[in-house]
Amino acid sequence: MGSDATASVTVESINPKVLKCEYAVRGEIVTHAQRLQQQLQTNPSSLPFDEIIYCNIGNPQSLGQQPITFFREVLALCDHPALLEKPETSVLFSSDSIARAQQILSSIPGKATGAYSHSQGIKGLRDAIAAGIAARDGFPANADDIFLTDGASPGVHNMMQLLLRSESDGILCPIPQYPLYSASIALHGGTLVPYYLDEATGWGLEISELKKQLEDARSKGITVRSLVVINPGNPTGQVLAEENQKQIVEFCKNEGLVLLADEVYQENIYVDDKKFNSFKKIARSMGYGEEDLPLVSYQSISKGYYGECGKRGGYMEVTGFSSSVREQIYKVASVNLCSNISGQILASLVMNPPKPGDASYESYVAERDGILKSLARRAKALEDALNSLEGVTCNKAEGAMYLFPQVRLPEKAIEAAKEAKKAPDAFYALSLLESTGVVVVPGSGFGQVPGTYHFRCTILPQEDKIPAIISRLTAFHEKFLNKYRD
Ligand SMILES: Cc1ncc(COP(=O)(O)O)c(C=O)c1O
Repeated sequence: MGSDATASVTVESINPKVLKCEYAVRGEIVTHAQRLQQQLQTNPSSLPFDEIIYCNIGNPQSLGQQPITFFREVLALCDHPALLEKPETSVLFSSDSIARAQQILSSIPGKATGAYSHSQGIKGLRDAIAAGIAARDGFPANADDIFLTDGASPGVHNMMQLLLRSESDGILCPIPQYPLYSASIALHGGTLVPYYLDEATGWGLEISELKKQLEDARSKGITVRSLVVINPGNPTGQVLAEENQKQIVEFCKNEGLVLLADEVYQENIYVDDKKFNSFKKIARSMGYGEEDLPLVSYQSISKGYYGECGKRGGYMEVTGFSSSVREQIYKVASVNLCSNISGQILASLVMNPPKPGDASYESYVAERDGILKSLARRAKALEDALNSLEGVTCNKAEGAMYLFPQVRLPEKAIEAAKEAKKAPDAFYALSLLESTGVVVVPGSGFGQVPGTYHFRCTILPQEDKIPAIISRLTAFHEKFLNKYRD
């Protein structure tokens, strides 16, 4: 007895915060899909479909999106500077990629992309990002406010770690939300204070709802530290109007909340009447400076038209904190030493792409616009198809990479789900996977108004796959309703 080494660590004895944490976009349905994919490999005719189509996660290059040539050329040259000495390089690479790589390398001590950097990231790259932010917003940005990160996710963890002292500290989060937030709040031991986005008004963010939830949380003894806003929204795809953003800034200022602005989809906007405005720009345009509002803006190389998820890059722009708090943010960043250098380089490039007159400019614009226009077409085709299904309504994806339709499930389906010990929307998504090979994430992974059922489907499969997805989805949905019709 007692000699089994694995017995000393049990699920009961590990950190309960880890048990509490859930991350649906890589959850049960995806694991099941991976099993089915293996089954297809060993026995291709054993399932009613011949491939798994992953619509569960915003991972564009995994579904065939091509990287932007300019970005990859610069990256390749930075990673192997010996290429810059070779005569063939000026034939194989564009002149502005070569110039940019030389400029970047000159800002890296010893040109060593394999060395640790400053814990906030290489200063020259932060300068470039600050210049990109200033050009985007028309307000100054400071390289010292930029913390380069391995994607936006570690930056979110950093702030949750900073703000959450105990379960009595709360973070206002949209529902539905991207589960990074619920997972990170759970891991850091705080309380998620939900505010509901209004599906009936295209996932509108109502200040009255924020106030109500804030007061409710306070009445329960929760100290609300911060408000998370995801704009454009995930999974909901809405793009906030400027007026609405001003109200949000005012609300945070009046209530003393840190505004955590998740702006990773800033380049993903598909409607002509909406435009991305950073919260920093909105706050500064209202005359609010550093002293008025603590504000953290997240950007990532994983999204936009670049979709460099696996390179893990991004930054947070941290403004409105005292220097002593910033030292603590820096200290926590420094525990990880630094973010990876390829991600840092890409973050500087997405904020400073080629300009008119640069050798790559025209091909860069063609690649960028080709991807964004195609995403807009895919979003519209899927939205129309979903809206044509019985009992399904789907708001427009104004931005981001997802549709989040509501499915009115018959009572009998809800009963069948109960029997299968599944949430009704998980039951629907699992049935969809098993009949069609299409992987979506049940709405319960993001949060939804109780009694409503949704799923999230990315708009990322390549355009030639969309008709097949639509026909499989339509056939499945009809069959499902016919089977469970009340
Ligand atoms: C709203 C939002 N924020 C943050 C992230 C994290 O992305 P990354 O860590 O790859 O930058 C994602 C990823 O899907 C997201 O959708």
